[in-house]
Amino acid sequence: MLIQDARFLTSNSRVEECPAPTLPEYAFIGRSNVGKSSLINMLTNQKGLAKTSSQPGKTQLINHFLINEAWYLVDLPGYGYAKISKDARAKWARMINFYLRQRPNLTCVMVLLDSRHAPQAADLEFMEQLGTEGVPFVMVFTKADKQSSSRTSQNVVQYLEKMRETWDELPLHFVTSAEEKNGRDELLGFVADTNQR
Ligand code: GTP
Ligand code: MG
Repeated sequence: MLIQDARFLTSNSRVEECPAPTLPEYAFIGRSNVGKSSLINMLTNQKGLAKTSSQPGKTQLINHFLINEAWYLVDLPGYGYAKISKDARAKWARMINFYLRQRPNLTCVMVLLDSRHAPQAADLEFMEQLGTEGVPFVMVFTKADKQSSSRTSQNVVQYLEKMRETWDELPLHFVTSAEEKNGRDELLGFVADTNQR
């Protein structure tokens, strides 16, 4: 799929205020700093479209981007950011839970996982929750340029093995690098295959 046009629409903390749910929607979620915003910029080929930072906790709201006037990409704040208060954490959980449950046009959640690490409890729990609620998702491994491809494969295999303990059917997975623009065709191909309405 070619991205001819990508633009920022809105930032919201309330799902009711998000753009009308009339187009297929793909949301990016994962731990703070995993590379959600960077991946959106890589996919759309626009460096500053989503705000990125080396400090975790950069994205704070539900950000909608309109792609080719045909589908939405959504950048979400990350979870597992140690430096925030209990209050802020509860606010995050409320916002995300409302969002996940109340977007009828949510075609797929892209769960981003850092390919440098072995399976993390917070990520496994989050995917478990998506499964329980019947929210469709795929696994997207990020930052594959940070280590050798064999190391990346090892971590991916470990994740899949861990998932197999509780899932009959494994979700699709993609390996990406925003830095080296890897995984772009595969992810956009997935969107093209799934966003016919
Ligand atoms: P929050 O909004 O804070 O939840 O973070 P995020 O998940 O949106 O992460 P962001 O895209 O802001 O990236 C975090 C840091 O990781 C930045 O310093 C990026 O440059 C870096 N980064 C992201 N993706 C890659 C990648 O594929 N390779 C490398 N080497 N660095 C990356
Ligand atoms: Mg971000």
